[in-house]
Amino acid sequence: MADKNGNVLAKSYGLDIPAKNYPFHVKGMENVDWGMKDRLSRIFRPDSGKTVMLAFDHGYIMGATAGLERLDLAIEPLAEHADAMMATRGAIRSCIQPNHNKPVILRASAGSTVLKEDLSDEVVGVDIDDAIRINASCLAIQVFVGAKGECSSLNNLVKTIDAGARYGIPTLGVTAVGKEMERTNRYFMLATRVLAELGAHIVKTYYCDDFEKVVAACPVPIVVAGGKKVPEFDALTMAYEAIQAGAAGVDMGRNVFQAQDPVAMIKAISGVVHDQLTPTQALDLYHTEIHLAQ
Ligand code: 5RP
Repeated sequence: MADKNGNVLAKSYGLDIPAKNYPFHVKGMENVDWGMKDRLSRIFRPDSGKTVMLAFDHGYIMGATAGLERLDLAIEPLAEHADAMMATRGAIRSCIQPNHNKPVILRASAGSTVLKEDLSDEVVGVDIDDAIRINASCLAIQVFVGAKGECSSLNNLVKTIDAGARYGIPTLGVTAVGKEMERTNRYFMLATRVLAELGAHIVKTYYCDDFEKVVAACPVPIVVAGGKKVPEFDALTMAYEAIQAGAAGVDMGRNVFQAQDPVAMIKAISGVVHDQLTPTQALDLYHTEIHLAQ
């Protein structure tokens, strides 16, 4: 109850301590609003500044994907080890428990499937109201720089950035690599910079040569996609090299949920991202985790 009289006297004003300004731990995000910083802090761990996003949005374009045939079974044991979950609203609502308290990066572009030759023809597939209802911490839009759908996918990105900005929700821009698109460092440097200049708060791209230059030229955090399944050591090495080159984390799917032991793999990836494990140390951790689980 608020009382006017009889309260303990307020006297601890710290008159000799100047007010503090704390630097924010996410690259390029010093000047965004408090709510957006709060959401970004749920995604990028304040202790390491980095993130392990678990991507399982593959079904929106590929249908049932190996390792994700049953989302409820596949994701449940992995969720606690991820820093964020990247998925469609259909997957989140139907298969993921709402009490993991993990930030959701909501796949918000839609409109093509692997059955089509050209994948670049997408639209914004989620209303901002529904993104808020699902408590999305970030919206994810795929952008096809250099493809037929370049203009429309860039339009999807900027419209989503504007919608999210009204409510303090950041947008992750994904540099898509369609069937006919280049995968050179020159291409990734151009595409990542374009997405950041248009206002993306996080950019997802693929690891490539001279990655430190791609990172340096991108004013916002870059997270690295995993790509097709490769041997565990190779995936750990890719993650390690990306982190050493300045990536702010990974957004990995198939190399986690298609691993022989997905839980051990996400723990090993997390060791590389947050604890500076080398690929060899991380592979040791992977084998130790498998052994302990038996
Ligand atoms: C593609 C995506 C997917 O979420 C992502 O590529 C999947 O991750 P991975 O390549 O590691 O399986 O953003 O648009």
